[in-house]
Amino acid sequence: MDWQKWHDRYDAPESPLAWRLGVVQDRVRAALDAAPPGPLRVVSLCAGQGRDLLGVLPTHPRREDVRARLVERDPANVATARRTAAALGLPGVEAVTGDAALLDHYADLVPAHLVLLCGVFGNITDADIERTVEACTQLCAPGARVIWTRHRKAPDQVPRICGWFENRGFVREWITPGDRVQSVTVHRFTATPAPLQRGTRVFDFVGYDRLTRTSRQPGPDGRTVRAAGGATP
Ligand SMILES: C[S@@+](CC[C@H](N)C(=O)[O-])C[C@H]1O[C@@H](n2cnc3c(N)ncnc32)[C@H](O)[C@@H]1O
Repeated sequence: MDWQKWHDRYDAPESPLAWRLGVVQDRVRAALDAAPPGPLRVVSLCAGQGRDLLGVLPTHPRREDVRARLVERDPANVATARRTAAALGLPGVEAVTGDAALLDHYADLVPAHLVLLCGVFGNITDADIERTVEACTQLCAPGARVIWTRHRKAPDQVPRICGWFENRGFVREWITPGDRVQSVTVHRFTATPAPLQRGTRVFDFVGYDRLTRTSRQPGPDGRTVRAAGGATP
């Protein structure tokens, strides 16, 4: 998967991904509107080019309060995010090249007020999604919001993922209608943050294409069928 090219889909205004980006940006705006006064910490896992946060921050009244870390594995996407942040005059936004699954990346920025998990849950196994949700209890300050996305292709795992959040002190604040192929959900953390477990890696970014391939299994008639866990970003 060419993760730079993947971002070109955002430039097609009618695409489901462009719709998703608009929704995520609206939710980022709302989360910043509702955030407590004072310095705000934001972390984005698998941030890509950071279009969600960087699309909102320049015109938001809290722009000077925000310190953000975007963790992304593709150096060219990181370079794009850095260039954009510099061009927009946002020195508080840092883009780093690295494995976002490693909790050490967030050590000095947690507990954060906003956690972005966009384009992640369609690319990792269900067990890793649950592990990542669990890690959100280490990343989030009380009252923090997690904005996360996931496709709703069958089997729709969004209700299950919501349950994983809601069993861990998160309250569902907002969710897109179930008939859209892409979903965006906001969960607010209402419990006490757990200490960050340094040295922990919470997911393996398999990629939706590989995840889909490995979840194909022979059906009863010998033909290949899609099994639970198949995914798109
Ligand atoms: C589906 S895109 C989502 C990008 C961005 N969050 C968005 O919603 O626009 C997934 C991104 O994760 C990045 N990625 C893949 N594995 C990663 C890892 N282990 N750590 C950090 N980034 C990773 C890819 O390079 C890609 O840019």
